Amino acid sequence: QIHPVILCGGSGTRLWPLSRKSYPKQFVPLVGHTTLFQASAQRLTGGEGLDFAAPMVLTNADFRFIVTEQLAAVGIDPGPVLIEPEGRNTAPAVLAAALHLAATDPEAVMLVAPSDHVVPDTAAFHAAVAQGLKAVRARGDLVTFGIMPDRPETGYGYLRLSARPDGSGAAVPLDRFVEKPDEDTARAMLADGSHLWNSGIFLFAVRDILAAFEAHAPGLMAPVRAAVEAAKTDLGFLRLDPAAWAGAEDISIDYAVMEKAENLSVVPFSGGWSDLDSWAAVHEQSAPDAQGVARSGPVTAIDCRNALLRSESGAQELVALGVENLIAVAMPDAVLVASMDRAQDVKQAVTALKAKG
Ligand code: GDD
Ligand code: MG
Repeated sequence: QIHPVILCGGSGTRLWPLSRKSYPKQFVPLVGHTTLFQASAQRLTGGEGLDFAAPMVLTNADFRFIVTEQLAAVGIDPGPVLIEPEGRNTAPAVLAAALHLAATDPEAVMLVAPSDHVVPDTAAFHAAVAQGLKAVRARGDLVTFGIMPDRPETGYGYLRLSARPDGSGAAVPLDRFVEKPDEDTARAMLADGSHLWNSGIFLFAVRDILAAFEAHAPGLMAPVRAAVEAAKTDLGFLRLDPAAWAGAEDISIDYAVMEKAENLSVVPFSGGWSDLDSWAAVHEQSAPDAQGVARSGPVTAIDCRNALLRSESGAQELVALGVENLIAVAMPDAVLVASMDRAQDVKQAVTALKAKG
Protein backbone atom coordinates (compact mmCIF):
# COMPACT_ATOMS: atom_id res chain seq x y z
CA GLN A 1 0.00 0.00 0.00
CA ILE A 2 1.11 3.55 -0.72
CA HIS A 3 0.39 6.13 1.95
CA PRO A 4 -0.22 9.57 0.43
CA VAL A 5 1.10 12.40 2.60
CA ILE A 6 -0.28 15.77 1.56
CA LEU A 7 1.63 18.86 2.66
CA CYS A 8 -0.77 21.65 3.26
CA GLY A 9 1.01 24.35 5.21
CA GLY A 10 2.19 26.98 2.71
CA SER A 11 0.74 30.40 2.00
CA GLY A 12 1.43 31.46 -1.63
CA THR A 13 1.49 35.28 -1.55
CA ARG A 14 2.14 35.55 -5.30
CA LEU A 15 -1.51 34.79 -5.95
CA TRP A 16 -2.83 37.70 -3.93
CA PRO A 17 -5.66 38.83 -3.68
CA LEU A 18 -7.18 35.36 -4.10
CA SER A 19 -4.64 33.57 -1.92
CA ARG A 20 -4.61 34.95 1.62
CA LYS A 21 -2.65 34.02 4.71
CA SER A 22 -5.87 32.76 6.29
CA TYR A 23 -7.09 31.05 3.12
CA PRO A 24 -4.13 30.16 0.89
CA LYS A 25 -4.18 29.11 -2.75
CA GLN A 26 -4.49 25.35 -2.16
CA PHE A 27 -7.99 25.83 -0.74
CA VAL A 28 -9.34 27.96 -3.59
CA PRO A 29 -10.78 26.72 -6.92
CA LEU A 30 -8.04 28.24 -9.09
CA VAL A 31 -8.32 25.97 -12.09
CA GLY A 32 -11.55 24.05 -12.61
CA HIS A 33 -14.28 23.53 -10.03
CA THR A 34 -12.42 21.79 -7.25
CA THR A 35 -9.69 23.32 -5.14
CA LEU A 36 -6.06 22.39 -5.69
CA PHE A 37 -6.07 20.53 -2.38
CA GLN A 38 -9.17 18.53 -3.34
CA ALA A 39 -7.65 17.71 -6.73
CA SER A 40 -4.41 16.58 -5.02
CA ALA A 41 -6.36 14.25 -2.75
CA GLN A 42 -8.44 12.90 -5.64
CA ARG A 43 -5.25 12.18 -7.60
CA LEU A 44 -4.09 10.02 -4.69
CA THR A 45 -7.08 7.73 -4.48
CA GLY A 46 -7.83 4.85 -6.82
CA GLY A 47 -5.53 4.36 -9.77
CA GLU A 48 -4.79 1.39 -12.01
CA GLY A 49 -2.82 -1.21 -10.08
CA LEU A 50 -2.03 1.22 -7.26
CA ASP A 51 -3.30 0.67 -3.77
CA PHE A 52 -3.52 4.02 -1.96
CA ALA A 53 -4.28 4.22 1.75
CA ALA A 54 -6.45 7.10 3.01
CA PRO A 55 -4.38 10.29 2.63
CA MET A 56 -2.49 11.66 5.62
CA VAL A 57 -2.56 15.45 5.75
CA LEU A 58 -0.06 17.75 7.47
CA THR A 59 -1.32 21.21 8.15
CA ASN A 60 -1.63 23.83 10.87
CA ALA A 61 -4.39 24.49 13.38
CA ASP A 62 -5.99 27.30 11.37
CA PHE A 63 -6.58 25.09 8.33
CA ARG A 64 -7.69 21.88 10.05
CA PHE A 65 -11.42 22.28 9.51
CA ILE A 66 -10.96 23.56 5.96
CA VAL A 67 -9.04 20.33 5.30
CA THR A 68 -11.71 17.99 6.64
CA GLU A 69 -14.59 19.95 5.06
CA GLN A 70 -12.95 20.03 1.65
CA LEU A 71 -12.20 16.29 1.74
CA ALA A 72 -15.74 15.49 2.84
CA ALA A 73 -17.09 17.62 -0.01
CA VAL A 74 -15.42 15.31 -2.55
CA GLY A 75 -16.26 12.14 -0.64
CA ILE A 76 -12.75 11.30 0.60
CA ASP A 77 -12.20 9.93 4.10
CA PRO A 78 -8.99 11.40 5.46
CA GLY A 79 -6.35 9.30 7.13
CA PRO A 80 -4.56 10.91 10.07
CA VAL A 81 -4.56 14.73 10.03
CA LEU A 82 -1.42 15.93 11.79
CA ILE A 83 -1.38 19.47 13.16
CA GLU A 84 1.93 21.31 13.28
CA PRO A 85 1.99 23.80 16.17
CA GLU A 86 3.89 26.14 13.82
CA GLY A 87 5.28 25.93 10.30
CA ARG A 88 8.79 24.49 10.31
CA ASN A 89 8.96 23.88 6.57
CA THR A 90 8.80 20.52 4.85
CA ALA A 91 11.64 18.50 6.45
CA PRO A 92 10.14 18.30 9.96
CA ALA A 93 6.68 17.74 8.43
CA VAL A 94 7.82 14.80 6.28
CA LEU A 95 9.83 13.34 9.15
CA ALA A 96 6.81 13.54 11.46
CA ALA A 97 4.70 11.73 8.84
CA ALA A 98 7.35 9.02 8.44
CA LEU A 99 7.67 8.47 12.19
CA HIS A 100 3.90 8.33 12.58
CA LEU A 101 3.62 5.73 9.80
CA ALA A 102 6.59 3.74 11.13
CA ALA A 103 4.72 3.18 14.39
CA THR A 104 1.96 1.25 12.64
CA ASP A 105 3.54 -0.03 9.42
CA PRO A 106 7.35 -0.01 9.17
CA GLU A 107 7.09 -1.49 5.66
CA ALA A 108 4.99 1.42 4.42
CA VAL A 109 5.78 3.36 1.25
CA MET A 110 4.87 7.06 1.33
CA LEU A 111 4.07 9.43 -1.49
CA VAL A 112 4.71 13.01 -0.41
CA ALA A 113 2.72 15.50 -2.41
CA PRO A 114 2.26 19.26 -2.26
CA SER A 115 -1.33 20.42 -2.02
CA ASP A 116 -1.01 23.33 -4.44
CA HIS A 117 0.03 21.92 -7.81
CA VAL A 118 -1.82 21.16 -11.03
CA VAL A 119 -1.23 17.74 -12.60
CA PRO A 120 -3.89 17.48 -15.31
CA ASP A 121 -3.19 13.92 -16.49
CA THR A 122 -3.97 11.60 -13.58
CA ALA A 123 -3.41 8.41 -15.58
CA ALA A 124 0.09 9.55 -16.61
CA PHE A 125 0.79 10.49 -13.01
CA HIS A 126 -0.27 7.05 -11.75
CA ALA A 127 1.92 5.38 -14.38
CA ALA A 128 4.87 7.46 -13.12
CA VAL A 129 4.15 6.44 -9.53
CA ALA A 130 4.10 2.78 -10.58
CA GLN A 131 7.54 3.25 -12.17
CA GLY A 132 8.81 4.95 -9.03
CA LEU A 133 7.54 2.10 -6.91
CA LYS A 134 9.83 -0.30 -8.77
CA ALA A 135 12.89 1.78 -7.83
CA VAL A 136 11.72 2.00 -4.22
CA ARG A 137 11.24 -1.77 -4.02
CA ALA A 138 14.33 -2.81 -5.99
CA ARG A 139 16.93 -0.37 -4.67
CA GLY A 140 15.50 1.44 -1.66
CA ASP A 141 15.73 4.67 -3.63
CA LEU A 142 14.29 8.05 -2.71
CA VAL A 143 12.32 8.79 -5.86
CA THR A 144 11.67 12.24 -7.29
CA PHE A 145 9.51 13.13 -10.30
CA GLY A 146 11.27 15.28 -12.90
CA ILE A 147 9.77 17.88 -15.21
CA MET A 148 11.34 19.07 -18.47
CA PRO A 149 12.47 22.65 -17.74
CA ASP A 150 11.61 25.48 -20.15
CA ARG A 151 13.16 28.50 -18.40
CA PRO A 152 15.98 29.19 -15.94
CA GLU A 153 13.62 29.21 -12.95
CA THR A 154 15.45 29.88 -9.68
CA GLY A 155 12.56 28.85 -7.42
CA TYR A 156 12.81 25.13 -8.16
CA GLY A 157 15.13 22.23 -7.45
CA TYR A 158 17.16 20.80 -10.36
CA LEU A 159 17.87 17.11 -10.89
CA ARG A 160 20.98 16.03 -12.79
CA LEU A 161 20.43 12.66 -14.41
CA SER A 162 23.28 10.15 -14.45
CA ALA A 163 22.05 8.74 -17.76
CA ARG A 164 19.57 9.60 -20.48
CA PRO A 165 16.08 8.26 -19.87
CA ASP A 166 15.58 5.20 -22.12
CA GLY A 167 12.05 6.19 -23.07
CA SER A 168 10.43 3.39 -21.05
CA GLY A 169 9.47 5.79 -18.28
CA ALA A 170 11.62 3.88 -15.78
CA ALA A 171 13.40 5.69 -12.95
CA VAL A 172 16.92 6.96 -13.71
CA PRO A 173 19.54 7.30 -10.95
CA LEU A 174 20.36 10.87 -10.01
CA ASP A 175 23.80 12.39 -9.97
CA ARG A 176 22.95 15.47 -8.05
CA PHE A 177 20.09 17.48 -6.63
CA VAL A 178 20.51 21.27 -6.64
CA GLU A 179 17.86 23.19 -4.74
CA LYS A 180 16.98 26.75 -5.85
CA PRO A 181 20.14 27.65 -7.80
CA ASP A 182 21.22 31.21 -8.55
CA GLU A 183 20.35 32.57 -11.98
CA ASP A 184 23.68 31.77 -13.69
CA THR A 185 23.66 28.20 -12.42
CA ALA A 186 20.04 27.78 -13.51
CA ARG A 187 20.90 29.03 -17.02
CA ALA A 188 23.83 26.63 -17.27
CA MET A 189 21.72 23.69 -16.11
CA LEU A 190 18.96 24.55 -18.57
CA ALA A 191 21.46 24.84 -21.41
CA ASP A 192 23.27 21.55 -20.83
CA GLY A 193 20.09 19.53 -21.35
CA SER A 194 20.79 16.95 -18.64
CA HIS A 195 18.68 18.47 -15.88
CA LEU A 196 15.03 18.18 -14.95
CA TRP A 197 13.06 20.27 -12.46
CA ASN A 198 12.10 18.68 -9.18
CA SER A 199 8.31 18.59 -9.07
CA GLY A 200 8.33 18.46 -5.27
CA ILE A 201 6.56 15.08 -5.27
CA PHE A 202 8.52 12.28 -3.59
CA LEU A 203 8.09 8.53 -3.22
CA PHE A 204 10.06 6.42 -0.74
CA ALA A 205 9.82 3.67 1.85
CA VAL A 206 9.40 4.89 5.41
CA ARG A 207 12.48 2.88 6.36
CA ASP A 208 14.63 4.52 3.68
CA ILE A 209 13.61 8.11 4.38
CA LEU A 210 14.16 7.59 8.12
CA ALA A 211 17.66 6.29 7.36
CA ALA A 212 18.27 9.37 5.18
CA PHE A 213 17.15 11.73 7.94
CA GLU A 214 19.40 9.89 10.42
CA ALA A 215 22.34 10.28 8.05
CA HIS A 216 21.83 13.82 6.75
CA ALA A 217 19.69 15.68 9.27
CA PRO A 218 20.32 13.88 12.57
CA GLY A 219 19.51 17.01 14.58
CA LEU A 220 15.85 16.80 13.53
CA MET A 221 15.35 13.27 14.85
CA ALA A 222 15.07 13.92 18.59
CA PRO A 223 12.72 16.93 18.55
CA VAL A 224 10.43 15.55 15.83
CA ARG A 225 10.31 12.09 17.40
CA ALA A 226 9.41 13.67 20.75
CA ALA A 227 6.72 15.81 19.08
CA VAL A 228 5.16 12.72 17.48
CA GLU A 229 5.38 10.58 20.62
CA ALA A 230 3.79 13.29 22.79
CA ALA A 231 1.13 14.17 20.19
CA LYS A 232 -2.41 14.60 21.54
CA THR A 233 -5.62 13.62 19.86
CA ASP A 234 -8.00 16.55 19.67
CA LEU A 235 -11.37 16.38 17.86
CA GLY A 236 -9.95 13.64 15.66
CA PHE A 237 -6.82 15.61 14.79
CA LEU A 238 -3.37 14.61 15.96
CA ARG A 239 -1.71 17.66 17.43
CA LEU A 240 2.11 17.45 17.55
CA ASP A 241 3.63 18.46 20.87
CA PRO A 242 4.40 22.22 20.69
CA ALA A 243 7.33 22.26 23.12
CA ALA A 244 9.18 19.47 21.30
CA TRP A 245 8.26 20.85 17.86
CA ALA A 246 9.76 24.24 18.75
CA GLY A 247 13.15 22.52 18.90
CA ALA A 248 13.01 21.37 15.27
CA GLU A 249 15.01 23.34 12.72
CA ASP A 250 13.04 25.26 10.07
CA ILE A 251 14.32 23.65 6.85
CA SER A 252 12.92 22.12 3.66
CA ILE A 253 13.36 18.45 2.82
CA ASP A 254 15.19 19.54 -0.32
CA TYR A 255 18.02 21.18 1.64
CA ALA A 256 17.93 18.82 4.63
CA VAL A 257 17.94 15.51 2.76
CA MET A 258 17.63 15.58 -1.03
CA GLU A 259 20.75 17.65 -1.75
CA LYS A 260 22.80 15.24 0.37
CA ALA A 261 21.35 11.79 -0.21
CA GLU A 262 23.05 9.39 -2.61
CA ASN A 263 20.27 6.91 -3.28
CA LEU A 264 18.12 9.25 -5.37
CA SER A 265 16.42 8.49 -8.64
CA VAL A 266 14.05 10.36 -10.88
CA VAL A 267 11.03 9.29 -12.87
CA PRO A 268 10.78 11.66 -15.85
CA PHE A 269 7.26 13.01 -15.98
CA SER A 270 5.84 14.58 -19.12
CA GLY A 271 2.14 14.49 -18.27
CA GLY A 272 1.94 18.23 -17.58
CA TRP A 273 2.65 19.93 -14.29
CA SER A 274 2.49 23.42 -12.86
CA ASP A 275 3.06 24.62 -9.35
CA LEU A 276 0.88 27.67 -10.13
CA ASP A 277 3.43 29.95 -8.57
CA SER A 278 2.15 33.09 -10.28
CA TRP A 279 -0.90 34.52 -12.05
CA ALA A 280 0.94 33.93 -15.34
CA ALA A 281 1.04 30.20 -14.52
CA VAL A 282 -2.66 30.25 -13.65
CA HIS A 283 -3.31 31.95 -17.00
CA GLU A 284 -1.44 29.18 -18.81
CA GLN A 285 -3.38 26.45 -16.99
CA SER A 286 -6.81 28.07 -17.46
CA ALA A 287 -7.33 27.12 -21.11
CA PRO A 288 -7.05 30.62 -22.63
CA ASP A 289 -9.00 31.17 -25.87
CA ALA A 290 -7.46 31.85 -29.31
CA GLN A 291 -6.71 35.45 -28.29
CA GLY A 292 -5.01 34.22 -25.13
CA VAL A 293 -7.81 35.41 -22.88
CA ALA A 294 -8.74 33.27 -19.86
CA ARG A 295 -11.67 34.40 -17.76
CA SER A 296 -13.70 33.28 -14.82
CA GLY A 297 -16.77 34.66 -13.06
CA PRO A 298 -18.88 37.58 -14.35
CA VAL A 299 -16.44 38.93 -16.96
CA THR A 300 -16.97 40.71 -20.28
CA ALA A 301 -13.91 40.99 -22.50
CA ILE A 302 -13.90 42.94 -25.76
CA ASP A 303 -10.90 43.00 -28.09
CA CYS A 304 -8.52 41.78 -25.41
CA ARG A 305 -5.38 39.73 -25.90
CA ASN A 306 -3.24 37.66 -23.58
CA ALA A 307 -5.13 38.44 -20.43
CA LEU A 308 -6.31 36.74 -17.26
CA LEU A 309 -9.63 38.23 -16.16
CA ARG A 310 -11.22 36.90 -12.99
CA SER A 311 -14.10 38.17 -10.95
CA GLU A 312 -14.26 36.00 -7.86
CA SER A 313 -17.26 35.04 -5.83
CA GLY A 314 -19.04 38.12 -4.47
CA ALA A 315 -17.14 40.56 -6.69
CA GLN A 316 -18.65 42.84 -9.33
CA GLU A 317 -18.90 42.48 -13.10
CA LEU A 318 -15.44 42.90 -14.62
CA VAL A 319 -15.34 44.56 -18.03
CA ALA A 320 -12.10 44.71 -20.01
CA LEU A 321 -11.84 46.62 -23.27
CA GLY A 322 -8.90 46.49 -25.65
CA VAL A 323 -6.30 45.48 -23.07
CA GLU A 324 -3.26 43.33 -23.63
CA ASN A 325 -0.84 41.42 -21.34
CA LEU A 326 -3.03 42.12 -18.37
CA ILE A 327 -3.92 40.36 -15.15
CA ALA A 328 -7.09 41.56 -13.41
CA VAL A 329 -8.39 39.74 -10.36
CA ALA A 330 -11.37 41.25 -8.55
CA MET A 331 -12.34 40.21 -5.04
CA PRO A 332 -15.06 41.84 -2.90
CA ASP A 333 -12.40 43.64 -0.82
CA ALA A 334 -9.47 44.09 -3.22
CA VAL A 335 -8.63 44.24 -6.92
CA LEU A 336 -5.32 43.41 -8.55
CA VAL A 337 -4.49 45.01 -11.90
CA ALA A 338 -1.05 44.04 -13.14
CA SER A 339 1.00 43.63 -16.26
CA MET A 340 1.36 39.95 -17.21
CA ASP A 341 5.14 40.53 -17.27
CA ARG A 342 5.13 41.48 -13.61
CA ALA A 343 3.29 38.37 -12.39
CA GLN A 344 6.29 37.29 -10.33
CA ASP A 345 6.32 40.61 -8.49
CA VAL A 346 2.90 40.35 -6.87
CA LYS A 347 4.82 39.37 -3.73
CA GLN A 348 6.18 42.95 -3.70
CA ALA A 349 2.66 44.31 -3.75
CA VAL A 350 1.76 42.20 -0.73
CA THR A 351 4.84 43.43 1.12
CA ALA A 352 3.92 47.02 0.27
CA LEU A 353 0.38 46.48 1.55
CA LYS A 354 1.65 44.95 4.79
CA ALA A 355 3.94 47.96 5.31
CA LYS A 356 0.91 50.25 5.00
CA GLY A 357 -0.70 48.27 7.84
N1 GDD B 1 2.47 20.93 6.37
C1 GDD B 1 3.34 21.79 5.90
N2 GDD B 1 4.14 22.46 6.79
N3 GDD B 1 3.41 22.01 4.59
C2 GDD B 1 4.31 22.91 4.15
C3 GDD B 1 5.17 23.63 5.00
C4 GDD B 1 5.06 23.40 6.42
O1 GDD B 1 5.75 23.98 7.25
N4 GDD B 1 5.94 24.46 4.24
C5 GDD B 1 5.56 24.24 2.97
N5 GDD B 1 4.58 23.31 2.91
C6 GDD B 1 3.89 22.77 1.73
C7 GDD B 1 3.43 23.84 0.76
O2 GDD B 1 2.07 24.16 1.01
C8 GDD B 1 3.58 23.13 -0.57
O3 GDD B 1 2.44 22.35 -0.84
C9 GDD B 1 4.76 22.17 -0.36
O4 GDD B 1 4.84 21.98 1.05
C10 GDD B 1 6.12 22.67 -0.91
O5 GDD B 1 6.49 23.85 -0.21
P1 GDD B 1 6.89 25.19 -0.98
O6 GDD B 1 7.22 26.22 0.05
O7 GDD B 1 5.83 25.51 -1.99
O8 GDD B 1 8.24 24.73 -1.69
P2 GDD B 1 8.88 25.42 -2.97
O9 GDD B 1 7.86 25.59 -4.04
O10 GDD B 1 9.64 26.61 -2.55
O11 GDD B 1 9.94 24.31 -3.45
C11 GDD B 1 9.60 22.92 -3.57
O12 GDD B 1 8.75 22.68 -4.67
C12 GDD B 1 9.33 22.99 -5.97
C13 GDD B 1 8.31 22.65 -7.03
O13 GDD B 1 7.16 23.38 -6.84
C14 GDD B 1 10.94 22.15 -3.70
O14 GDD B 1 10.67 20.78 -3.53
C15 GDD B 1 11.60 22.42 -5.06
O15 GDD B 1 12.74 21.59 -5.22
C16 GDD B 1 10.61 22.13 -6.17
O16 GDD B 1 11.20 22.41 -7.44
MG1 MG C 1 5.77 25.65 -4.11
